[in-house]
Amino acid sequence: MKTLIVRPAQASDSARILSMRNEPRTRAMSLTTDVVTQDQHEAWFAKTLASSSRKLYVAALPAAPDAIMGVCRFDIAQSGDEAEISINLAEAAQGQGLSPILITSCVSLFQVHNPAIRTILARVRHENVASQKSFLRAGFQQDASPVEAGCLWYRLEI
Ligand SMILES: CC(C)(COP(=O)(O)OP(=O)(O)OC[C@H]1O[C@@H](n2cnc3c(N)ncnc32)[C@H](O)[C@@H]1OP(=O)(O)O)[C@@H](O)C(=O)NCCC(=O)NCCS
Repeated sequence: MKTLIVRPAQASDSARILSMRNEPRTRAMSLTTDVVTQDQHEAWFAKTLASSSRKLYVAALPAAPDAIMGVCRFDIAQSGDEAEISINLAEAAQGQGLSPILITSCVSLFQVHNPAIRTILARVRHENVASQKSFLRAGFQQDASPVEAGCLWYRLEI
């Protein structure tokens, strides 16, 4: 079975995370589709690393632990027991069945670091079938919440 090494993002991951964020498929499927500039990214990344309510994890294959190919972001709600997840897999790593492993590995580590979390939500664009299937394969269920701006909601109770 395939596995991924996951760890919290650190300052030295900045350039790789930006390059993955600006890959065409990622931009097309993101809630904001514009190219992210270096300045915008650096401000966002510094704020993210310092945040107590946003947690960022990176993933790599065990054979190449320094070659990050997955990123997972969690935004913790004010209630403290719910978080929204967002995932990104480098284009070179797509189509290999790695996304459910990315999701479950990052959720597990996030849960260890944030034991009060009970619910993880994912907001996925209606046309992003690969992402919808990935969350279903990782054990999420489509949520009955109303569709918001062309998105579907997926939910995992942990
Ligand atoms: C979402 C993402 C992590 C999925 O990873 P992936 O490796 O591309 O996914 P896969 O190619 O394994 O596809 C997952 C499933 O969707 C299916 N699929 C992929 N594209 C599809 C399409 N256009 N129509 C129908 N099914 C599709 C695959 O056949 C696969 O099905 P299976 O599990 O039954 O075999 C990855 O595409 C990604 O990072 N995309 C850019 C950022 C993004 O969209 N993030 C999610 C925001 S919510």
